Amino acid sequence: MKKGIVLYKSKYGSSKWYAEKIAEKCKFECKDLKHIKVSDIQKYEIIIFCGAVYASGVSFRKFLNKNYERIKGKKIILFVNGASPFDEKTLKNLICNNFKKEIISLPLFYGRGAWDIDKMSTLHRVLCKMLIKMVSKKKNKDLQPWEEALMEAKDRSCDWKDEKYLEPILKLVSKINN
Ligand SMILES: Cc1cc2nc3c(=O)[nH]c(=O)nc-3n(C[C@H](O)[C@H](O)[C@H](O)COP(=O)(O)O)c2cc1C
Repeated sequence: MKKGIVLYKSKYGSSKWYAEKIAEKCKFECKDLKHIKVSDIQKYEIIIFCGAVYASGVSFRKFLNKNYERIKGKKIILFVNGASPFDEKTLKNLICNNFKKEIISLPLFYGRGAWDIDKMSTLHRVLCKMLIKMVSKKKNKDLQPWEEALMEAKDRSCDWKDEKYLEPILKLVSKINN
């Protein structure tokens, strides 16, 4: 079996939740990206990045873009979670807008996360309240999937996390290992 690690960057816990599930099921190590230097991960053959979408940015973007050259020989897999339901076009745009060319073609998986405006940092809460106000002026038919989720959640606490979103990524890891 190949040696693997799951690295997460999570502000409110959903990316951590997914990362820990993946690590447990694959018998990989699991670490918070903020404590990681690229030299720490050279010994792994499979590296899974697990992060969230914040205002169209991916949480592990900076680390991966900066360090990709030093880990590109490894099996790298990306898992992203957000409030939005899965939408192929949105996900593709997100990845194209966040990552260097070589990273865009890496295996990518998506799951829904959680949303709780009361638990957000002040900056995020203000930003999200502004977004809700702006988006609520749009017609329903013009809403993007993420904006629909925003309108559904507003100031309610929502938790869409589900192990079912992990099935495709777990299948890939098992294929790599066999
Ligand atoms: C400031 C902010 C911006 C967000 N923007 C998006 C977004 O553009 N698209 C989306 O699907 N979810 C968005 N979300 C929802 C987060 O991706 C979701 O809450 C995720 O589960 C957070 O992961 P974490 O708990 O690991 O931090 C946003 C959340 C915050 C706080």
